[in-house]
Amino acid sequence: MNINLVTSNSGKVEELTYILKPFGHNASQLKVECPEIQASTLEAVVDFGLDWLAAKKIQTPFIIDDAGIFIEALQNFPGVYSRYVYDTIGLQGVLKQMEGLEDRSTSFKCVIGLMLEDGTKHKFVGECKGDLIYEKRGTGGFGYDPIFIPEGYDKTFSELSPKEKNAVSHRGRAMKKLVDFLAEL
Ligand code: IMP
Repeated sequence: MNINLVTSNSGKVEELTYILKPFGHNASQLKVECPEIQASTLEAVVDFGLDWLAAKKIQTPFIIDDAGIFIEALQNFPGVYSRYVYDTIGLQGVLKQMEGLEDRSTSFKCVIGLMLEDGTKHKFVGECKGDLIYEKRGTGGFGYDPIFIPEGYDKTFSELSPKEKNAVSHRGRAMKKLVDFLAEL
């Protein structure tokens, strides 16, 4: 299937393409600026995005992806505000908020939205639990990757290979559900 990836984030494009390719799906990036509503859940952001893009007659099938990082000791902050926090206080600012806090439990969540040719909408959710570390490590990946270690590993997402990250990441898990769903169509 030819699938349009509606995102301006090249890190996401790399990961989504890498996951889709072995299943025979071709992915093309569409850089359409979709407004992100301020909602309390990633699911609501994705629902709005799918409807907004469908109204703009974006070529189906297309995928959108909304993700966030949820830090337990900060009452799940930044969550749906992850992009704003990254763009403003950055990773150093987040680490500063965590100073003196021993509970580093953190999870990433990703919601992938798929719009099919028949106008049906589908959502796939993936989560990855782990810990926030004390300083940045690694050069790969994007966003919060240098400060997050997934459960069962001693390397940050930035230090893992794309294959390793996709195997356990929130996006990899959501995409596994999407690929299984497409195989059943
Ligand atoms: P959005 O899904 O593009 O709204 O992403 C929200 C924020 O989370 C942005 O700052 C992204 O860089 C970051 N982000 C999304 N996915 C990942 C990931 O897989 N690793 C690290 N940061 C991510």
